[in-house]
Amino acid sequence: MIQIQGAVLERIGAPRPYSESRPISVVDVELDDPRDDELLVRIETAGVCHSDLSVVDGNRVRPVPMLLGHEAAGIVERFGDGSTAERDGVRVGDRVVLVFLPRCGHCTACATEGLTPCEPGSAANNAGTLLGGGIRLHRHRDPIYHHLGVSGFATHAVVNRASAVPVPRDVPPHVAALLGCAVLTGGGAVLNVGDPRPGQSVAVVGLGGVGMAAVITALTYRDVRVIGVDQLPEKLAAAQALGAHETYTPAQVAAAGIKAPVVIEAVGHPAALETAVALTAPGGRTITVGLPPPTARISLSPLGFVAEGRSLIGSYLGSAVPSRDIPRFVALWREGRLPVEALVSSSVRLGDINEAMDHLADGTAVRQLVDLA
Ligand SMILES: NC(=O)c1ccc[n+]([C@@H]2O[C@H](COP(=O)([O-])OP(=O)(O)OC[C@H]3O[C@@H](n4cnc5c(N)ncnc54)[C@H](O)[C@@H]3O)[C@@H](O)[C@H]2O)c1
Ligand SMILES: [Zn+2]
Ligand SMILES: [Zn+2]
Repeated sequence: MIQIQGAVLERIGAPRPYSESRPISVVDVELDDPRDDELLVRIETAGVCHSDLSVVDGNRVRPVPMLLGHEAAGIVERFGDGSTAERDGVRVGDRVVLVFLPRCGHCTACATEGLTPCEPGSAANNAGTLLGGGIRLHRHRDPIYHHLGVSGFATHAVVNRASAVPVPRDVPPHVAALLGCAVLTGGGAVLNVGDPRPGQSVAVVGLGGVGMAAVITALTYRDVRVIGVDQLPEKLAAAQALGAHETYTPAQVAAAGIKAPVVIEAVGHPAALETAVALTAPGGRTITVGLPPPTARISLSPLGFVAEGRSLIGSYLGSAVPSRDIPRFVALWREGRLPVEALVSSSVRLGDINEAMDHLADGTAVRQLVDLA
């Protein structure tokens, strides 16, 4: 067991601003030793994603207290079985990307090449445990729940081997961290589901970390136009700076009657999905990656889908197999075609995590990184 420092969400649904209500406290936590199929990782950096905020504001109800953070990278310090050499392709000292849905590799969902989220992995995430059901985080013997098998807003984490993908050392920690959620999710939706043809356009609704990752991934395709849609002018300007060919607010894109064969919704609000559906061209695909509250509903014309041969597809974790797809993103980044670092707005200290949640909720940041090194 070691003592670590971590950002623990104590209660759900605290009023804003979080800088005053302070629902997350940075505290000393006991971290148990890793078990056989687990790793101890020293966290270097962790990104602040809307899926963290959704736990804080109660849109996605999870058990508390929970140590948040699910987009992180760090260095492997120890294996659960005590070995120090290579194990399943990972060595002590390797930099690993932590991914927020472990794939068990054995269930029927795991046989779908990434299209369906792993069943035991999803069950563990919902229960706030590691894959296999364990909880390694405690405070005075009381359990602290894991966030999506990672809990990366901390100096160290114990994760299942299936939650870690090694990357070469030339991939810096801030790039590695973003590969684990924003890039895998937004980029994976483009590579694995949208896969635009030359001459087609890709529209992205919602230009936060996930949507911007979809934008930069779509820009890696030759002869593909990229359209960014967000309600905030600053986000439209940021997407243009990254190379988006056209940008619009939801009202502007509706008024202009624009249609695209591949449309990605990365907001997590029903109005944004309605915008995305209306933007989809005949024969096209609306790919939804946003995570609204479970009670959210949208209004759709079924006839529109049939008469125009359109489809609506949900994509979790970018429909990715992380061990297959993270190297694809690393290769694009190394070729200079995927500017992942451009998604970083600022670095914050662990103690400023409540303020970081306010910035994310206000829409004033793309990706903030919590620096733990
Ligand atoms: N499917 C997955 O595996 C997965 C993984 C990570 C995140 N997510 C979800 O993806 C969504 C985006 O995450 P993020 O971290 O990029 O969030 P974010 O808060 O950084 O970005 C959301 C963006 O949407 C914009 N927006 C809000 N309402 C809008 C509207 N009606 N129309 C157009 N734009 C609007 C905001 O201005 C903001 O720029 C969240 O719901 C998150 O929980 C899903
Ligand atoms: Zn995320
Ligand atoms: Zn599985």
